[in-house]
Amino acid sequence: MNLKNKICIITGSTGGLGEEIIDKLANNQVKIIALGKNQKKLIKLKKKYKNNIIETFCCDLSNQKRILSTIKTIKDKKYNIDILINCAGNFLVKDFQKISIKEINKNINVNIIAPFLFSKEFISNMKKQKWGRIVNIGSSSSYFGFAKSVLYCSAKHALLGFSRSVNEEFKKHGVRSYIFSPGSIKTKMGKLVKNQNYQTFIDPNELSSFIISTIKQNNNMVTEEIKINRINYN
Ligand SMILES: NC(=O)c1ccc[n+]([C@@H]2O[C@H](COP(=O)([O-])OP(=O)(O)OC[C@H]3O[C@@H](n4cnc5c(N)ncnc54)[C@H](OP(=O)(O)O)[C@@H]3O)[C@@H](O)[C@H]2O)c1
Repeated sequence: MNLKNKICIITGSTGGLGEEIIDKLANNQVKIIALGKNQKKLIKLKKKYKNNIIETFCCDLSNQKRILSTIKTIKDKKYNIDILINCAGNFLVKDFQKISIKEINKNINVNIIAPFLFSKEFISNMKKQKWGRIVNIGSSSSYFGFAKSVLYCSAKHALLGFSRSVNEEFKKHGVRSYIFSPGSIKTKMGKLVKNQNYQTFIDPNELSSFIISTIKQNNNMVTEEIKINRINYN
């Protein structure tokens, strides 16, 4: 499937995996609406991919009102969104009993409420045109529980159920929802992972190429739920 001139919203575009995905989208001449929470990083990114990034939006996804106002701003611009990539993530490493209500709300907003609300809005156009792709970035934490990661694991498990259900509801309309669930990746977030060898972590360049080649598949065969691990742990 040729992705040229498709319009894609991507959250977490300034992150280690997000920027690699942008690079692959740019190689495929996709028009990109890039979201991040740091204006300086977004400006730098837009400069680097000036031929492909058509808009940037600075939005703290831990705030539900900001999520809704950003969705409205994008909606008002009447872009025909073809692809949505929910890549932003917040990894909180903390004792379960020490997690505050504020941290629960913020983390859940970034990791599950934002994908839910963005998908709910932009799936309408995909359904209408009978073609669309929603990409959710899960984690090994979508399948396993880990100590001191209760919030993150809970949200990533929810994202798995979300992606599966959206896929079931919309596949008949040509809209495919995917969840890619990697183990540790060589990014800023990966550096928070304790007791593992960072050098063995998954290369975000390789992962992003895999994601884009998967969503380009447009025949009867569909790969909707993918666990990605590394061979070498030492
Ligand atoms: N790294 C790993 O080991 C690993 C493993 C499995 C799954 N994942 C998943 O992979 C995805 C990408 O993460 P990454 O590895 O690329 O980590 P990263 O380099 O830390 O990037 C995370 C991205 O999310 C954005 N973000 C975080 N909190 C946000 C908020 N409140 N509002 C808006 N944006 C926010 C960050 O913005 P800033 O650039 O401004 O910080 C950044 O763009 C995430 O969904 C993560 O859960 C990561």
